[in-house]
Amino acid sequence: MKAAVLALALALMGVAWAELAPPERSYKILMLLPVSSKSHRNVFLPVAEALADRGHKIVMLVNHPPASKHPNVLEINHGLPDFRVENLNMFETRGNPAAVFGLFQKALPAIARKLYKVPKVKELYDKRKEFDLIVINHLFNEAAYPFAHEMPFITIATPGVDYRQSAVLGNVLNPSYAPNYMQSYPAPMSMLHRFVNTIQHIMFAVNWRHWSIVPAVQKEISAQFPDLPLLLDIERNQSLTLMNSHFTMNDVLPLLPSQVEVGAMHCRPGKPLPEDLESWISGAGSEGVVYFSLGSVAQGQSMPTKYRDMFVEAFKQLKQRVIWKYEEVLEGISDNVLMRKWLPQQDILAHPNVRVFISHGGLLSTQESFYHSTPVLAIPIFADQPKNGMNIQNNGLGLMLEWEELTVELIVNSLQEIISNPKYKARAAEVRAPLRDQPESPKDRAVFWTEYVIRHKGAPRLRSPAATLSWVEFLMLDVLLALHVAVVVAVYVLRRLVGAVCSRVLGSRSAGKRKRE
Ligand SMILES: *[C@@H]1O[C@H](CO)[C@@H](O)[C@H](O)[C@H]1NC(C)=O
Repeated sequence: MKAAVLALALALMGVAWAELAPPERSYKILMLLPVSSKSHRNVFLPVAEALADRGHKIVMLVNHPPASKHPNVLEINHGLPDFRVENLNMFETRGNPAAVFGLFQKALPAIARKLYKVPKVKELYDKRKEFDLIVINHLFNEAAYPFAHEMPFITIATPGVDYRQSAVLGNVLNPSYAPNYMQSYPAPMSMLHRFVNTIQHIMFAVNWRHWSIVPAVQKEISAQFPDLPLLLDIERNQSLTLMNSHFTMNDVLPLLPSQVEVGAMHCRPGKPLPEDLESWISGAGSEGVVYFSLGSVAQGQSMPTKYRDMFVEAFKQLKQRVIWKYEEVLEGISDNVLMRKWLPQQDILAHPNVRVFISHGGLLSTQESFYHSTPVLAIPIFADQPKNGMNIQNNGLGLMLEWEELTVELIVNSLQEIISNPKYKARAAEVRAPLRDQPESPKDRAVFWTEYVIRHKGAPRLRSPAATLSWVEFLMLDVLLALHVAVVVAVYVLRRLVGAVCSRVLGSRSAGKRKRE
């Protein structure tokens, strides 16, 4: 009965997915995300658990305490303290991106130096050939590539399409319309934006891969594994990437069969809320509820007091009730505000009485607001968040503010605009419908392609021939040079020929003239 109701509900939402065929056998899959934030792990978990549901055995190398209760998922925490973004104050690093980059420059080589000396990691490394597949977090995890040597392996691109990775797979995205990792510009891009975007495409890639980060990681790895190919060469051998993006929410780009979009994989219909939250939200009546959370990396408690006080003051002026995810007890908050350390975010966003989500614009939160069609007031802090905030604003799903421009009045007015103007909710519904209208769920797609790579022994047929070309060959510089030389030679020969003919004709004419005289 329950299943029938669920099936009906799914069908009504436009979700009627076919089931995947049963797997041929139980696979052993090793997922490596030793350098990850919690949100990266939250991209891995749905794939890991969906594979585990199909009877596969999943081992994950992580840098957080275990989060999955699934009996087929084993999380091994290496425990190295070097990359704990949750402990950083992201508000302090705002306006100083060099400081964030400095963190990577320090942490990534340090992890490369220490990782394989951790006994449980070494043990895992020695046993790696027992696995059917290696899955690596594409972002920040070059130090894990030794595991992938001589193994079938795929990556999960936690930030979604990354043009640098795309180029590695043989698909060089054109900066005339493909955004870079941190920034997107309104389409169609102006001449200035295309110029800046091209420089950013080149500089990010060269800086990360050839100057600042990978060479330092490579040095540490080479010291321990002198016989291994270069990390960037191991990376080239990936069979496939599962990308945390989807064209309905992000950019429409030409993709290879080996670039599979699985964005919003962690999204699911809302579940009933705990009694107290349910009565708080429905008790707000027709005014509705504002939900405020800055995610897991930017903890609310690191918010400078000046901003915190603005929100406390702004919430006093609202007719709505407010649910605020905050890690500490605050004095002087008004009665219409409920504060909690942890909240079931998707179930809250799915509630029809929740009118607006004040968010830092993290990628997963952004996907959830698209999926549950909750309008957003985005106040991005760092990394890709400004790009996501822009995406929200460009899609008409909400508004974006800068921390530096915040005032009590601006917060109140922006919230009131989003709540009272029906266009935001209408646009949110328009975005949600095609996102949910897919031939299979993104999670099933991830499962299918992961098993596919194992079934077909690394799936060599997925490889683009472009991946094996050098830059000179790819840009056809050699062909262009040959064409150029051919044209120059042809012009030269033609001129000599014409010259010779002319002088012969003119010469004989003048000779005739002289004769007659
Ligand atoms: C490259 O990938 C294939 C298929 O996944 C695998 O069999 C092979 O060992 C890998 N080669 C290297 C050098 O890692």
